[in-house]
Amino acid sequence: MLRLLPGILVIVALFGGNARAGGDLSAAEIARLSNMVRQDCGSCHGLTLKGGLGRPLTVDQLAGMDRETVRDIILFGIDDTPMPGWLGLLSEPEADWIARALKTGAIQ
Ligand code: HEC
Repeated sequence: MLRLLPGILVIVALFGGNARAGGDLSAAEIARLSNMVRQDCGSCHGLTLKGGLGRPLTVDQLAGMDRETVRDIILFGIDDTPMPGWLGLLSEPEADWIARALKTGAIQ
C-alpha cells in the first residue's frame, strides 16, 4: 500500500490541477475567452495569432515557457513593451485557461 501512495498522489495532483486550470469555467465563459483572445490579443499578435506587433502566440513559440509564465505575462504584461497586463479584465483562472489553450493550440 505504501508503495502505491506516490502514484496515487500524482494522479490526484494531475486531476486537481486540471480542474483548477479551466475545468470550472462554463462553456459560455470559454467561448467568451476564445473570442476575446482572437479579437483583443489578435489586434497585436495577429488575428490568427501568428504575430504582428507582438510575437506569435503559437504552440511552437510558447513551448519554451511554462504555463505559469504565460499566465503571469497575460496578467501583468511585460514592462517597457506594448504588452499590457490584463489583471482586472481577466481573473487568474481565466488567464490560466488562456495560457493553457495557447500552449495546446486550443485557440486557432
Ligand atoms: C497593445 C498590443 C498588445 C496586446 C493587445 C496584447 N499583446 Fe501580448 N505582447 C505584445 C508585445 C509587443 C509583446 C512582445 C513584448 C516584448 O518585446 O517582449 C507581447 C508579448 C506577449 C507574450 C510573450 C510572448 C513571447 O514569446 O515572449 C505573451 C504570452 C502575450 N503577449 C500574450 C498576450 C495575450 C494572451 C493577450 C490578450 C489577452 C495579449 N498578449 C495582448 C503586445 C500586445
